Amino acid sequence: MDAAPPPRDEWSTRAAFVVATIGSAVGLGNIWRFSYVVGENGGGAFLVAYLVAVIALGLPLMLAEFALGRRARADVVTAFSFEMKSRRWALAGWLAVIASLAILSYYAIVAGWAYRYFVIYLIGSPAGAGRVDAATHFTAFLHSSWEPVAWQLLVLATAVVAVIAGVRNGIERLNRWLVPLLAAIVVVLAAYSLTLGASRAGLGFLFTPDWSALARPQVWLAAFGQAFFSLGVGLGALATYGSYAPAPVGLPRTALLVAGADTSFALVAGVAIFPAVFAFGLDPTQGPALAFVTLPQVFAVMPGGAWFGLAFFALLSIAALTSAVALVEVPVAAVIKAKRWSRTRATLAIGTLAFVAGVPSALSDSAFAVLRPWGVNILEAIDRFSSNLLLPLGGLSVALAVGWAWPRERAVTSGGLASPSLAAAWWYALRFVVPAAIVAVLCWTALRH
Ligand code: PHE
Repeated sequence: MDAAPPPRDEWSTRAAFVVATIGSAVGLGNIWRFSYVVGENGGGAFLVAYLVAVIALGLPLMLAEFALGRRARADVVTAFSFEMKSRRWALAGWLAVIASLAILSYYAIVAGWAYRYFVIYLIGSPAGAGRVDAATHFTAFLHSSWEPVAWQLLVLATAVVAVIAGVRNGIERLNRWLVPLLAAIVVVLAAYSLTLGASRAGLGFLFTPDWSALARPQVWLAAFGQAFFSLGVGLGALATYGSYAPAPVGLPRTALLVAGADTSFALVAGVAIFPAVFAFGLDPTQGPALAFVTLPQVFAVMPGGAWFGLAFFALLSIAALTSAVALVEVPVAAVIKAKRWSRTRATLAIGTLAFVAGVPSALSDSAFAVLRPWGVNILEAIDRFSSNLLLPLGGLSVALAVGWAWPRERAVTSGGLASPSLAAAWWYALRFVVPAAIVAVLCWTALRH
């Protein structure tokens, strides 16, 4: 006979649940990805589309995913099939597990770049002192046949240590220290950036809407994709973290706090980045290289740039780590349940898998440079595939599970919205608005390829 399973770990308080979930939401998406997506999509106009996406799609989905995990009090695979007539819902759970592994595979690489730049600023040899050097330096690093892999390994190792230590003793403790530190760093950086003399241009770029951009469907598409990625919906992370929530839990309030913190964080990071970029006459529309090439160029010429750089890459590394931890925890929780493995064994297995799966992305400009699906390198290809396909599919399964497969009564009780009209609005959003928007996004993406 099997021994009774150990009692399930949970967050020690509701605040710990909120803080850990903020740690998972605030990540590379808020700093590295948000800043270049804003840069590419018309600045302020993009923000309007982004806020619409967060409120109309992100918040309802976030609450639904919390409800899914919290009701089953289990990993995402169990959560999807719990109380369902068809066992096939477990497939939606496995899809989420695969999506989080796919994202983790390249997320750990970009996080590794952040770790590396942090160390470089720490030992006082800022990467590429001149304007040309920063680009050459970054390219040389990406072309190295081993360096990106070493940093990737370090990122995964730190995340694995936290996950092995457990929900309360590892993940919760890590976030309790690091999330407040993140908030402090980003606020100080933003305040300093505003003193550099180009706050008008920088803030104007970030906040002045060019309404005509809203007529371009790709701006909306980018906004939806960014909202999904940044809030972390559709990958099972919210279901998994929600499943550890202590009773009484207040899911709607948590969703509001997390979405609010995530959005504010991206905005404050924008206030730290754009005025500084404009102050030194650089171009903010450089795509993914913004954080690793444009910003080091800024740091090279700004007063106190070495300190600013150190703090900026500390910010990026910490934000990435607390998100990587969530991406590891999703598959780990699923494997612990499905295979009855110990937490240590499951975490080591998932860490190894993520490492191996990520090596082609880590070496996407060197050993694996010949692989160019869709004309981009393998890291970008996996990013596109997961953000444009797996993430929306994950969101769609959450909306269909809670909005259609669950009886209305169950959805409304589990969502926990006190006001009947809000509860009804939420339920209709899940049934119609969210699936329609996601299907539109998927069709549009398919048509473009
Ligand atoms: N939200 C994280 C970010 O903005 C990425 C992430 C997605 C983390 C899903 C966990 C789960 O970087």
